[in-house]
Amino acid sequence: MSNVLRLAIVDPNDATRDALKSMLLGMDMIWLEAECSRYEFFADVIGQTNPDIGLVAIDRDQAKALELVARLGQSSPECAVLVVSSSNDGNLILQAMRAGAKEFLTQPVRIEDLLAALGRISERRFGKGEKRPRGSQVIAVAGSIGGVGTTSLAVNLGVALAADEKNSVALVDLDLSLGDADVYLDTIPDYTLVDVAQNVTRLDFSLLKRSLTKHGSGLFLLPRPVQLEDVSLITAEDLQRVIGLLKATFTHLVLDLSKAYSPIDIVALEMATHVLLVTQLDLPCLRNVVRLMMSFKEMKGLADRVKVVVNRVGLEAGQITLKKAQETIGKDIFWQLPNDYRSMIAARNNGVPLLEQAPKAAITQSIAELAAALSGDEQGDEAEAAGKKASGLSRLLPFWK
Ligand SMILES: Nc1ncnc2c1ncn2[C@@H]1O[C@H](COP(=O)(O)OP(=O)(O)O)[C@@H](O)[C@H]1O
Ligand SMILES: [Mg+2]
Repeated sequence: MSNVLRLAIVDPNDATRDALKSMLLGMDMIWLEAECSRYEFFADVIGQTNPDIGLVAIDRDQAKALELVARLGQSSPECAVLVVSSSNDGNLILQAMRAGAKEFLTQPVRIEDLLAALGRISERRFGKGEKRPRGSQVIAVAGSIGGVGTTSLAVNLGVALAADEKNSVALVDLDLSLGDADVYLDTIPDYTLVDVAQNVTRLDFSLLKRSLTKHGSGLFLLPRPVQLEDVSLITAEDLQRVIGLLKATFTHLVLDLSKAYSPIDIVALEMATHVLLVTQLDLPCLRNVVRLMMSFKEMKGLADRVKVVVNRVGLEAGQITLKKAQETIGKDIFWQLPNDYRSMIAARNNGVPLLEQAPKAAITQSIAELAAALSGDEQGDEAEAAGKKASGLSRLLPFWK
């Protein structure tokens, strides 16, 4: 299955072509197959490279460009033509559509509009659902009480996902006041979420990537603001746009939520593909899970995306049993992470992920298997098989639905 849309672009204007290119180059769903500066050569370029999309910037010579669009419709009917112009004159749009253009975008092209157009083309090309190219996965990691292990899981899950070279992964610290994901990764970032949120409308993809800090593991980090007074500068709407932009750039986004369940956290929950709700096997935690699930049920489609992850299994003899926990929550437990104080505290104090600190530890393996299971690829099946074979506390079984 192809994951990307292959695109060729023609624009005789170097400046606008470069601007479009830099926007497209940062997008994982796009492979820039060819670029061309002359309308008269473009039909041949398309004929030879067979891209999914032909982007035609028509401003230099509208008549010539629209003739080209019509020609492409004849010579390469499989190629979806996307027209870009600084004019939004209704007549021009009509002419472009009649010539066979599938989409029309106005300059300067806004990232959201481009994404929406690409989404429609992708849907027409691959159909909805299964056969669609793989989109980005947004994994929100939420907790049922302070100190339950949300950040430990978010950071190490991000690192585990980034270990697969097919993935590009970003971790966003949404615990805006007290978040500590940067400490777990021992990084001193140049930019934070507040910089990205405030400039989201002006950012192109390469600038966005440069605003994130790349950890040695391959994981990109967008940390919480440095100053407490900057927290209020980030609105729920900003965050929605930041997540949208990151989704177009990365295959996986991991969001480390705060325990405030603020409008920021709610946006993250709404946009998530999976919500990992971290709990431990004690009464205050489980009671909060029940309360949270009740509220989640009020939000459309959210409860179905929640996966309960029990952390620190085996911590103490008096722990509530998994069976009892499952009964209390009224929902299956999706994953169990073993208690491993030594590895966890060493990883945290050294500012290195578990994969580096304790690669063989059961907790590290369990998080890697969780990453594979969430990715839902062949590795997920392998993890499932491995999980089913394993026994004992050292390799805890996932609970499959
Ligand atoms: N599975 C685990 N085994 C042992 N200690 C853990 C485990 N998960 C988390 N911890 C420890 O619990 C503490 C709180 O974890 P953290 O991830 O910061 O929680 P949160 O982000 O929910 O506040 C940290 O000291 C961490 O090392
Ligand atoms: Mg935390």
